[in-house]
Amino acid sequence: MKTNIGVFFGGRSTEHEISIISANQAINAIDSRKYDVTPVYITKDGKWFTGSALLNLANYRDIPALLNMCEEVYMRPIYGDYNLYYSMPKGVFSKKTIACKLDVVIPVLHGANGEDGTFEGILDSIGIPYAGCDTLSSANGMDKITMKMILRENGIPVVDYTWFTDRQWFAQRDELIDRIEQNMGYPVIIKPANLGSSIGIGCARNRNELCARVEDASRYASRIIVEHMVEQLQEINCSVLGDCDEFDTSVLEEPIKTTDILSYTDKYMGGSKGAKGMQASAKKIPADLPVEMTKEIQRLAGETFRVLSCHGVSRVDVIVDKSTSKIYVNEINTIPGSLSFYLWEATGLTFDKLMDKLVSLALKRNTRRSQKTFSFPQNIFAMGGGSKNGVKGGVKSGKPNKG
Ligand SMILES: Nc1ncnc2c1ncn2[C@@H]1O[C@H](COP(=O)(O)OP(=O)(O)O)[C@@H](O)[C@H]1O
Ligand SMILES: [Mg+2]
Repeated sequence: MKTNIGVFFGGRSTEHEISIISANQAINAIDSRKYDVTPVYITKDGKWFTGSALLNLANYRDIPALLNMCEEVYMRPIYGDYNLYYSMPKGVFSKKTIACKLDVVIPVLHGANGEDGTFEGILDSIGIPYAGCDTLSSANGMDKITMKMILRENGIPVVDYTWFTDRQWFAQRDELIDRIEQNMGYPVIIKPANLGSSIGIGCARNRNELCARVEDASRYASRIIVEHMVEQLQEINCSVLGDCDEFDTSVLEEPIKTTDILSYTDKYMGGSKGAKGMQASAKKIPADLPVEMTKEIQRLAGETFRVLSCHGVSRVDVIVDKSTSKIYVNEINTIPGSLSFYLWEATGLTFDKLMDKLVSLALKRNTRRSQKTFSFPQNIFAMGGGSKNGVKGGVKSGKPNKG
């Protein structure tokens, strides 16, 4: 029997369409002699569907018609149950409830509700092996504020920043503006903390622009980060593949932008009409940089992957301030566009081998995890000799003391 890979994509995310493209590329790269693939498409309202019609990108022009050709499915949040169930049993007589059993999952979900640990939490509850970051590292990597705090704490250079919630902005706007103007000065970059693809991001060169950009960012997220803007910047990306402290780094790419900040169009349209995914964007591979700087960026990318305890394939994006040659880590993408396959190809690892590696990393992590202790066989309620107050501090006022 071949290993059955469930590739999950789409999702309740502003990067829904990009995820469809990345997943399509990944599915086409999977070696069908070794693996079966079960595509699972998550709609924009969060329903799961499977079916072979999902494999043809042209079908996504008419989503209702596509879904008519597919079956709605779900997994139960029960440890050890790897089945994909039909939401409506098939056939009047057979009542077939199980669509298939998955062996491993590859989440290709960019952005919210996929790359941020929420979906990984479902997989962790089920205990199924899956590729990529776990709940904690996904969540830490997705939130631009938490990520920068962890990086800074570990001596990895990040630009100066401050952050606040939309409610704080509403209540103490003047104080926050003073803080930004005194500590950072203009220009600044304003970002919703947990989005991707440059959505809701803008720069401000004065107070009016700052207020407008914060309003804009707060349409997308309640946590907002304001960063020092590097004006003469060179953006460089490096992919990292592995498991926390055992990893490889790829050659570097320099994405080419057409506006002040790298836009959604730059990233996915490649300057032409029609979405083609990250791989289609204009870029230089390998980036034209001195050897020493290349090595330093690869080192920082690996360190970022390690301190965030990442797994699978990530892409670390850095900013080089050309006026000082200083390097800052800007962000990590824990489910990068096109799974960064084009960077691995340029490094000497073909896309099918990258998919192989993701599967084997997923299986290895699962084996290691299953060897950890999650519960004790003894039932403390069945143990004799306990006091009336119970064990370990007792149960007071109906609340068990977990300490
Ligand atoms: N501190 C900064 N200084 C200058 N430009 C920036 C800065 N932060 C981000 N940018 C620009 O904005 C783009 C998007 O920001 P980024 O943090 O990468 O968000 P996203 O998750 O949406 O990709 C970057 O690719 C870069 O062009
Ligand atoms: Mg980015």
